[in-house]
Amino acid sequence: MALKTIILAAGQGTRMCSKLPKVLHKLANKTLLQHVCDTSFKLKNNHLIVVYGHGGVQVKHELASLNLTWIEQTQQLGTGHAVQQAAAEIEDSDTVLILYGDVPLLKQQTLNNLLSKVSSNSLALLTVTLNNPTGYGRIIRDNNQQVIKIVEQKDADALEQQVQEVNTGILAVQGKKLKHWLLQLQNDNSQQEYYLTDVIAMAVADGIEVKTQQAPNVDEVLGVNNRIQLAHLERVYQLEQAEALMLAGVSLCDPNRIDVRGSFSKLGQDITIDINVIFIGTNSIADNVTIGANVIIKNSTIESGVVILPNCIIEDAVVGADSRIGPFARLRPQTKLAAKVHVGNFVEIKKSSIATGSKINHLSYIGDSIIGSGVNIGAGTITCNYDGVNKFQTIIQDGAFIGSNSQLVAPVNIGKNATIGAGSTITKNTPDAQLTLTRAKQISIKNWHRPLKNS
Ligand code: UD1
Ligand code: CA
Repeated sequence: MALKTIILAAGQGTRMCSKLPKVLHKLANKTLLQHVCDTSFKLKNNHLIVVYGHGGVQVKHELASLNLTWIEQTQQLGTGHAVQQAAAEIEDSDTVLILYGDVPLLKQQTLNNLLSKVSSNSLALLTVTLNNPTGYGRIIRDNNQQVIKIVEQKDADALEQQVQEVNTGILAVQGKKLKHWLLQLQNDNSQQEYYLTDVIAMAVADGIEVKTQQAPNVDEVLGVNNRIQLAHLERVYQLEQAEALMLAGVSLCDPNRIDVRGSFSKLGQDITIDINVIFIGTNSIADNVTIGANVIIKNSTIESGVVILPNCIIEDAVVGADSRIGPFARLRPQTKLAAKVHVGNFVEIKKSSIATGSKINHLSYIGDSIIGSGVNIGAGTITCNYDGVNKFQTIIQDGAFIGSNSQLVAPVNIGKNATIGAGSTITKNTPDAQLTLTRAKQISIKNWHRPLKNS
């Protein structure tokens, strides 16, 4: 059985008040449409057809890496009209699933349950019961509780408006039947639109049973029409991520104050995460890691036992086991810290590797460097890696001690167990195990007086 999923994404999304097409707005740093596609791709034997309209070039460009069939709907004449545009892509034997590019939180499990209800003589419809059903199409049932039709809000009479079970818009049906009904759609309704929902009454007339399934919760089937709804679904999504983390053995100081914008390639046990931590992209976090408040971690690997103190930013970096980072440290791309490295306050590291047990505890910039093990870098040390045109490398060998407020002008090599006197500007390679310093001699002037104020 081949499955074809038609994703409707042609609407402009006027209420977003945005130049960006609605389906390109992001939830957890991923476009709404990508959320829907990602979930759909998890279904077996599925081929995705996206019906686009507004901002089509931009939408296609954003999702260019996905294997999708794109169908343009030049005029938005209704949901039925949108599906009609894709009819040529549907084989009689296909099962067709209708989804929406602005309904991002739908789950694979829900769709599989729905699909299990479709057959050559039944259609599956996802419904939900709302306290306030205003605006939605109502599910109208007969005395035997069989669905007979869907009536849109604007076409519903007073009695029908009281029905609280509504159409989510999501349905699954055999291709042959759908194509047959699509040909018969009319727009003689209050909005003069071709309603997809009219296929329900046609199914009933053809003796096809309409099997409904209740959505497990409202948020899963909610669409985004404005930025308030987008923010609401973001919080729903983030709470789900937080709960998944906790169930996997992570302690969160407050599950309402963590954001996961991506995924974890590895997640250890007994990780503790304080408030306002943001994970972006794909991260790997090992056992017994502690992450302080206000930390951002992007595409990084944090090995076991690492302590990250508050207010650090870590991007495309590897932090070795039992290292201690921060507070207020920034690890930029291509930083590789081995085990037991200490990186302290106001330290920035870029494209550098630092071997076991080395310490950079205060106010330093380390860029394009290779630093050995057991190195101690004093406060205020700067690797001058850039001459305004090119970048150069600094090598600091095992056991070196760099005195505070030193500048290491790259390219430069600091020898093994070398000591650099505080306040030095080092422009040439320094030998192993010697003290090197470039400091003017300290003098004191006897009988010197402070100047007196002119009267
Ligand atoms: C639709 C359903 C309604 C249901 C509600 C759930 C119909 C006639 N009504 O109503 O029963 O309760 O969704 O949210 O189907 N779209 C296109 N092309 C079009 C029209 C719409 O791609 O020509 C897309 C929109 O981008 C949107 C979706 O289809 O993602 C739904 O369209 P919308 O106009 O919001 O339908 P509703 O009136 O909300
Ligand atoms: Ca809608």
